[in-house]
Amino acid sequence: MSLPNISPIHTSSWNSLKNISRGYRNFSLNKAFAIDPERFQKYHVRHEGFLFDYSKNFMEKDVKSLLLDLAQECRLQEAVEAMFRGEAINRTENRSVLHVALRGSSDDTQIKDLVGARLSAMQAFVNKLHGNEIRGCSGHPIRHIVNIGIGGSDLGPAMACEALRPFHLPGFRISFVSNVDGAHLHDVLKEARAEETLFIIASKTFTTQETMINAHAAKAWFLSNGGDEAGVQCHFAAISTNIALASAFGVRQEFIFGFEDWVGGRYSVWSSIGLSLACAIGFDRFLEFLNGAHSADQHFRNTEPEKNIPVLMGLLGIWYRNFLDAETHAVLPYAQHLSKFPEWLQQVDMESNGKQINRDGMRVTYETGPVIWGAPGTNGQHAFFQLLHQGTSLIPCDFIAAARPVDTDEKQHQVLLSNFVAQTEALLKGKTIEEVLSEMRASGKQAKEIDLVATHRVFTGNKPSTTILVPKLDPYYLGMLMAMYEHKIFVQGIIWNIYSFDQWGVELGKVLAGDILKEMQAGKIQRSHDSSTGAILDYVINAGLLS
Ligand code: F6P
Repeated sequence: MSLPNISPIHTSSWNSLKNISRGYRNFSLNKAFAIDPERFQKYHVRHEGFLFDYSKNFMEKDVKSLLLDLAQECRLQEAVEAMFRGEAINRTENRSVLHVALRGSSDDTQIKDLVGARLSAMQAFVNKLHGNEIRGCSGHPIRHIVNIGIGGSDLGPAMACEALRPFHLPGFRISFVSNVDGAHLHDVLKEARAEETLFIIASKTFTTQETMINAHAAKAWFLSNGGDEAGVQCHFAAISTNIALASAFGVRQEFIFGFEDWVGGRYSVWSSIGLSLACAIGFDRFLEFLNGAHSADQHFRNTEPEKNIPVLMGLLGIWYRNFLDAETHAVLPYAQHLSKFPEWLQQVDMESNGKQINRDGMRVTYETGPVIWGAPGTNGQHAFFQLLHQGTSLIPCDFIAAARPVDTDEKQHQVLLSNFVAQTEALLKGKTIEEVLSEMRASGKQAKEIDLVATHRVFTGNKPSTTILVPKLDPYYLGMLMAMYEHKIFVQGIIWNIYSFDQWGVELGKVLAGDILKEMQAGKIQRSHDSSTGAILDYVINAGLLS
């Protein structure tokens, strides 16, 4: 069975949403809160300790109900079931989409057994590593793990390792190398010692240019720093679906961790690709991370749409993108340890829903995935928040925070959270010219200065935001948070009638880079290029000749 194939613009709810959206261009959040003291009560959902407050959005009962109708008309629930049942919903690659199975959310016993076996292999490795049973070839304990991968084979584990830094077990350092820019590996290896370093080559395909170049460079570094070919067997592990290539690289069988091709790269942190994370936090904590995601899966699969967090997140995004013309969506984690969260989400969201061809193979006539961007608070407040508060674009924002710190000062955390809460309030409330004038007069400002500055100090307010709060940024709630976003992306892909699980858009650049590299290696331009590309290539080739 394939996914439903329904053009959203041909549904009656889409047309009704279009009609009422005109009125919402002048929607006043302040009025909405003033009129209805129950607004928060009506527009929030709690799942365990996960609070999802969407009350500060341009939405009333009519919008919510039409968006829910849209989900129904696009047969969202049917699609959700198709994914969980393991149907080949990634049709353009003819694959199932079963990252949910990796966190115990598949009903298929064969798949459960397979996942169990993969987890056992990881567990044995992690425990041996922490028990110093896995050592370098000279008998030195492993103290430094270097994960070499890119895209989903880097961003998920790197983000989660950073997010869970307070849970890292002592005695290990974890580094991530992704960029084909040799500077990345160089900087990591500058402080590395070969006898205590274990490289984990993470690549679903084991053919990705960047990863393979870095893997070979790491091997060369190892060999020129006291290692030999036999030692490669103790210092290199691999995670891949391509066991043959991993073995051909020189990784011994027991250090190769496989996974299935129904795990998409950007959804793979839950699979063996999470090995570096499991090494960092220990296997039990890794299971807690999976359990948090499992809880989000169950919530997504079994909760009625009107109380379903990923469904509501996805629908709100569609409302802003397709009916209120928002082009971007900001993600603002108030947690330094979530500093890589926006970058992780950019891949999961934009590689999934940055598509223009529908499930009929035709060009869509409506917008799909927005630009996702963001940075941690409070840093962002001293950078781009000016534009959020006083710029001209409509930018829906997600504010994310944990109510309690894990291992930092409670009082300092209060300061962080006071900013977190204040920003959503300021975006909503704004400040009128009357307030500005009376403030300036009260503080004794002269009429001349008031005339010059007053309008610049006005905040229109009425800027929408969604708040996500978890009790603590621990493995369980990180897993839940990530899975909620993954499912939100699924919801949007279904409604936009696109295939969210392929990524053909990354191919062309790769092919051209291969051709251009050949020209650079030959030291001359061999194909015809547009004048800009030709001139740039000429500059690159001849740069060495410039004085
Ligand atoms: O950029 C395309 C992509 O295929 C991503 O989807 C993927 O996460 C990344 O490259 C890395 O791929 P691999 O794990 O096969 O090295």
